[in-house]
Amino acid sequence: MPIIHTIGLTKRFEDVVAVDKLNLSIDEGEIFGLLGPNGAGKTTTVLMLSTVIKPTQGTAKVGNHDVRTNPDAVRKLIGICFQEPKLMWVSTPWDVLNWHAKVCGLSTSERKHRVKSMLTEVNMWEHRRKRIHGLSGGMKKRVEVAKILIQRPKIAFIDEPTSQIDVVGKHKIWDMIRELRDDGSTIILATNELYEADVLSNRVGIMHKGRMLVCDTPKKLKDSILGGDIVEVQLEKAADNHVLDELKGLEEVVEIVKIRPDDLRVHLNKVEKVVPKIVNLFLNAKLSISSIRMSEPSLDDVFVHYTGLTIEEAEKKSKTK
Ligand SMILES: Nc1ncnc2c1ncn2[C@@H]1O[C@H](COP(=O)(O)OP(=O)(O)OP(=O)(O)O)[C@@H](O)[C@H]1O
Ligand SMILES: [Mg+2]
Repeated sequence: MPIIHTIGLTKRFEDVVAVDKLNLSIDEGEIFGLLGPNGAGKTTTVLMLSTVIKPTQGTAKVGNHDVRTNPDAVRKLIGICFQEPKLMWVSTPWDVLNWHAKVCGLSTSERKHRVKSMLTEVNMWEHRRKRIHGLSGGMKKRVEVAKILIQRPKIAFIDEPTSQIDVVGKHKIWDMIRELRDDGSTIILATNELYEADVLSNRVGIMHKGRMLVCDTPKKLKDSILGGDIVEVQLEKAADNHVLDELKGLEEVVEIVKIRPDDLRVHLNKVEKVVPKIVNLFLNAKLSISSIRMSEPSLDDVFVHYTGLTIEEAEKKSKTK
């Protein structure tokens, strides 16, 4: 059952079409990863769905309310963690979160408890009395993320939650985002870190130049790349043509690249199904395997496949536009 549904959602900034006729459905209770390189239109989409900015064309229903005609009803359902935290006007992390908890309608005792526990969770308890302008970028981001964890909204928009956060903090925040989903929130996670989207999302959509290129579960997207899995096999002696033909005959195998006669890279689909067959095939041919390594495609490979560009190339292009 979609909780968010966009209908030709479009945003134009003068000559830039930031979001271009977006049609998208997000199901209740899922983490939806919105991916794409810098300038793809992720933040603009999030800002339209959270009623911060208005679409120039098309619209969206959020929890059955139209963002154009009923933004107040939408605001009651949502919380947003901004890509650029806007925290400067109050003095300390504790003040920011306490004020936020008050606005969200938490009772005094709930507020005390939740502010303390979230500041502790994001490792900011000892910095709670520091001035915001004296915090590092990562610390400000932790405070911004804690806001949404205190609020626990029905629909949470989280824009680049870990972009400046160290690796231990990242894992902690990922766990907290999962918990929020498991408690019943629907989460829209905008990120250009493909690994983050892969480990967290139920489904991901890859945006590029304001358009949605492809949208599915991370697993299906990775499986959709033909020959996207790779098995590297090193043999104790060279494989003869008969064995190679048998290997080619396996339905999942797409291509065999011979690095040396005893060192093969097999491009294939459904790696988990085909590896036992490959091992058997070599055993039957009395060829000992000295090493075998499997790798699966990442979402980076999916991005390259669908756009013809790597993320770095796409970022460079969007900068030179
Ligand atoms: N307020 C604005 N005025 C003019 N152009 C804007 C504005 N906001 C965004 N844009 C343009 O819209 C396009 C999409 O930007 P957006 O911030 O949505 O991208 P993004 O996918 O979130 O990128 P990033 O990964 O860098 O956060 C870009 O070309 C950007 O320059
Ligand atoms: Mg952005």
